[in-house]
Amino acid sequence: MELKAYLAQRRELVDEALERLLPADEAGGDILKAMRYSLFAGGKRLRPILCLAGAEAVGGRPEQVMFCACALEMIHTYSLIHDDLPAMDDDDLRRGLPTCHKKFGEGLAVLAGDGLLTQAMVLLSDPAQYADREPLRVLAAGQAVMRAAGFQGMVGGQAVDLASQNQEPDLATVQYMHALKTGALITAAVQSGAILAGGDEEQVNHLVRYGRRVGLAFQIADDLLDREGDQAKLGKATHADEKHGKMTYPAVVGAVQARKIGWDLVNQAAELARELGPAADPLAELARYIMERTH
Ligand code: IPE
Ligand code: IPE
Ligand code: MG
Ligand code: MG
Ligand code: MG
Repeated sequence: MELKAYLAQRRELVDEALERLLPADEAGGDILKAMRYSLFAGGKRLRPILCLAGAEAVGGRPEQVMFCACALEMIHTYSLIHDDLPAMDDDDLRRGLPTCHKKFGEGLAVLAGDGLLTQAMVLLSDPAQYADREPLRVLAAGQAVMRAAGFQGMVGGQAVDLASQNQEPDLATVQYMHALKTGALITAAVQSGAILAGGDEEQVNHLVRYGRRVGLAFQIADDLLDREGDQAKLGKATHADEKHGKMTYPAVVGAVQARKIGWDLVNQAAELARELGPAADPLAELARYIMERTH
């Protein structure tokens, strides 16, 4: 499998679907413009791609879960818009463009995030998704995604992130924070894809174990890229974590050990994917990509 071509093809599928699900509309005014500005600014589309791959790992098709994949990307984009606000990380550059609040002002950026989160809920609760499917699967997948976005997941982790700024570095805290702020939504991506595509309980639990490892490793890699990465490639400022006294893996255990922990996690995840057979090959490849990536 050629991962680069796979990622490009999947990104295109996701972008087409997002365009269909949140089309430009003059009547939408500035709020829709701001939502679309951040949603279509670029981005790897990793969470939706993991959702599609989770579906395929249990024998499903990408189209079956695309609405959920797009909801995940909307939630993720909302989290980035709010993460960049002056009250949080105060960043000016995102996805290679001025951040949403730099372009549209803080008030509209808050609302653009709210609008994307709410639109994700509209997608996840769409009665059309209940046709030709066990309704309980649609509900269970939607709940997994929403729970992962909320105080037991991303929002909770972001709160720990704020509280731990300029605090004494501590491995247990950073592990908990990363698992919540980034790991939860990534886990929900593979989990929801598998639930919607008809995966059985054992398969879904297996993929949750995969997702937790990949999700934690993803934030460790993000921490490393902030220190060592190339701003032009990343499309966001580097060396921002130290400046803001952020608790990160490299700050707690050093860059060498952080990289080792990340690689151990993605190697374990790749092994878990391989146990599911050839349909999960993309998930095994994606796990390694998490640590190899340069943006
Ligand atoms: C950045 O996420 C924020 C984190 C959770 C680390 P991504 O690295 O997936 O950002 P995009 O979507 O590609 O812009
Ligand atoms: C963001 O973590 C996690 C989110 C849930 C948005 P970071 O603050 O490290 O993400 P970047 O580096 O700004 O993309
Ligand atoms: Mg942050
Ligand atoms: Mg940030
Ligand atoms: Mg970061």
